[in-house]
Amino acid sequence: MEITIKTKALEEVEDEALCFFLPEGKIPEGKRVKKLDSILSKASSFLFSSNDFVGKLNQTAVLYPEGKLRSKRILFVGLGKKEKIDLDKLRQASGTLCKKAKELKVKSYSAFLPEIRIKGSSISDFAQAIVEGTSLSNYQLAQYKTTEKEKIFSIKTLNLVDEKKANLKAIKKGAETGEVSADATNLARDMINHPANYMTPTRLANTAIDLSRKYRFKCEVLSLPEIKKLKMGAFLSVAQGSDQPPKFIIMEHKPEAKRVGTVVLVGKGITFDSGGISLKPSENMGEMKADMSGASAVIAVMAACAKLNLFVHLVGLVPATENLPSGTALKPGDIVKSYSGKTIEIISTDAEGRLILADALSYAHKFEPSAIIDIATLTGACVIALGHVGCGMLGNDNRLKEKIRVASQKSGEKVWELPLWEEYDEQIKSDLADMKNTGGRPAGTITAAALLQKFAGDYPWVHLDIAGMDLEEKRKPYIPKGAIGFGVRLLLQFLRNYSNFR
Ligand code: BES
Ligand code: MN
Ligand code: ZN
Repeated sequence: MEITIKTKALEEVEDEALCFFLPEGKIPEGKRVKKLDSILSKASSFLFSSNDFVGKLNQTAVLYPEGKLRSKRILFVGLGKKEKIDLDKLRQASGTLCKKAKELKVKSYSAFLPEIRIKGSSISDFAQAIVEGTSLSNYQLAQYKTTEKEKIFSIKTLNLVDEKKANLKAIKKGAETGEVSADATNLARDMINHPANYMTPTRLANTAIDLSRKYRFKCEVLSLPEIKKLKMGAFLSVAQGSDQPPKFIIMEHKPEAKRVGTVVLVGKGITFDSGGISLKPSENMGEMKADMSGASAVIAVMAACAKLNLFVHLVGLVPATENLPSGTALKPGDIVKSYSGKTIEIISTDAEGRLILADALSYAHKFEPSAIIDIATLTGACVIALGHVGCGMLGNDNRLKEKIRVASQKSGEKVWELPLWEEYDEQIKSDLADMKNTGGRPAGTITAAALLQKFAGDYPWVHLDIAGMDLEEKRKPYIPKGAIGFGVRLLLQFLRNYSNFR
């Protein structure tokens, strides 16, 4: 999708559609709408007074200017109640606008930035949110459709318009940031939406390598012999049941000047989770192709961070493997020795994520990081706790958690903290080994994090459980059905803040 930014008055805009974001209310306020109404000989007044459109969030209406404007159509989209409008509402309305334009087969449209202001948000934030909402809504993975007509129509050009020339620079900056973050999210979505027979650990690693060449960051991929040499016994124990070789992906963005600490991102890269010998029920098992959503977020964020050349030393670690049952697979009751030397008794082979993350977290120590953040579709219990609205957050460092919360508010990707009280450690004590890999049904998300904590060491660390946030069942304003790409905007916002201050 191409994005342009223009200073124009509404009568000067010539496009397939001219769009306006409007807050809820019977008669929309603002100079611009008044002017529009007089040009249209009150056609918009009639629409508003009919109550067919009142500006409810994600409500839309179309008007035809009958030659009174240079643009072919007028599109209104609602932002909802004035006092409740925030950046995510604008992102949603932008997504809805894009969807509506697609239905009308509009290839190019122009949208005025809203006239209203949101406390704490700049013009640049507005432009970013609009570009994100539009580009995220425009997304589809079309390559598996073999007939043209089944491919969904997509928008080619979004033109952002404002009357004031003085706003141009800020709009441009926001639009650029929005484009990078939406593109990265869509990249992550592609990786997730690809079926597991395509997106194998090897392909995931090759995707990272391709991106590292395109966006210029370092990328090294360790294969089976090297992983064995490192004695990553927990990671290897998951991989041993699959014919697809595991890969350990190490990515690095190291700016030359003005570096502000080292952040290590760790992403769970299970390209398919059958549960292994502790086999999952077959219903909806296909959804477990998305068990590498954490990995996809980390890889995509590496690309975006390198593209923006953020002043942070960023390391991305992805242990990638399938979790399958076979004659060589890991069995319940087995004891494995992790990279750190700690031993783990396997209770369920379906609790595989924490095994591969344990080794990756230990490996992170060699960078002496100022922060470690892991992101993983780790527990079904997290879906029970938080549903499909936000992700779980647990960790050992309040300052780091606060930084994530700040990034969450701005990016619109919700996080909610769960406690990591030491009492939970009891649940993962093993008779034979240093710990066991499950803690029973109570507090399943927390006991998983309690295991990870043992491998994070004393480094400031946060764990994001995104299990409920991998796939969208029905379309949302800016999330098409399928992969969400959760975490990319959140982590990118965190890293932008981290690079600017500290
Ligand atoms: N990948 C799953 C968790 C998951 C569940 C992700 C639903 C997305 C949607 C994970 O590997 C898993 O199987 N966890 C088990 C752990 C249990 C055996 C302790 C679970 O949550 O059932
Ligand atoms: Mn599992
Ligand atoms: Zn899993």
